[in-house]
Amino acid sequence: MIKRIGILTGGGDAPGLNAVIRAVVLTAHNHYGWDVVGIREGFDGLISGVQLEALSPENVRDLLQRGGTVLGAVNRGNPLMRTIDLPDGTVEYVDVAEETVERIRELGLDAVIAAGGDGTMAIAQRLVNLGARIVGVPKTIDNDLNKTDVTFGFDTAILTATEALDKLQTTAESHHRVMVLEVMGRNAGWIALTAGVAGGADAILIPEIPFDIQVVCDKIESLRRDGRRYSLIVVAEGAAPIGGKPLYYIKGEGTSEGKLGGIGHMVGSMLAECTGVEVRVTVLGHLQRGGQPTPRDRWLATRFGSMAVHLVARQQWGKMVALQGNNLVAVPMSEAMQLKLVDTHGEMVETARDLGIVFG
Ligand code: F6P
Repeated sequence: MIKRIGILTGGGDAPGLNAVIRAVVLTAHNHYGWDVVGIREGFDGLISGVQLEALSPENVRDLLQRGGTVLGAVNRGNPLMRTIDLPDGTVEYVDVAEETVERIRELGLDAVIAAGGDGTMAIAQRLVNLGARIVGVPKTIDNDLNKTDVTFGFDTAILTATEALDKLQTTAESHHRVMVLEVMGRNAGWIALTAGVAGGADAILIPEIPFDIQVVCDKIESLRRDGRRYSLIVVAEGAAPIGGKPLYYIKGEGTSEGKLGGIGHMVGSMLAECTGVEVRVTVLGHLQRGGQPTPRDRWLATRFGSMAVHLVARQQWGKMVALQGNNLVAVPMSEAMQLKLVDTHGEMVETARDLGIVFG
């Protein structure tokens, strides 16, 4: 018998998370008459004992269009590897998964809805294996979660990246420059590919296709021979040259992942050297994660949030909501947390190649 459920948002934020929270609260309240509480700071909040927040239809009223997550987001706080600071200054990692499951029970939560990416789904799956009642909602601007055609946040991110390219195009044309735009995309080049084609890029460098910079130089030179004196180059943060490795501006330490960055400037220097043309580099960074979700992301987040509540009612523990075609389905979290990469010989890449776009 379900009466009270919790919701948490794990990992980095994405536009649309607040719309999920709103849809969960409204569906739970209107359709089932359940109470919903917000768990602040993701799984970390469960184990570090932060206060739960009662969420009523009244206090989620204005959340639809608001970016970020009102529940807070942390990229640490993995209960499978909790960091304990020891008196001698060293750290120890302990698995507190069983305590986390117990804590959910102590808090009187009949089920938890976890919105997050692959890391959140991996944690949730482990807790489900230990008896927790959790369903998942897929979130990442990178759009790299398996088993769902799309994640919310992606549409907003590609709008931001496409608008950036549109703005770079006018100044590139005026100054006859090569403009390099570095976008997010840790393992997958969905943002770079989609925004790159939409924004008229001449070259798109993605993690799935190690690049040869000479191919990009040749493209820029051939455009100039044809009278096009500017070029737009999009680089995903996780892209790397053939035989090279992705660049990090913050190294990973302990349980915290390294932070990718630097490839845009590296590509910019290489292009300046091989073409002799003036190059400028823009790193779009967290602008892609911020701001109001697009109508499409609001709608997707709303459908996901509402469906997650129905999955709780059907006791579908360990399942994640997903969009396949235009249908909402429930898929095992264990399968969803695999990476969904760009198909390097698929129709999208082939279409881009047909337009003359090079991938290095
Ligand atoms: O996974 C989403 C993502 O936006 C990646 O593209 C990026 O590498 C990472 O998050 C950045 O995380 P943080 O907010 O910790 O800098």
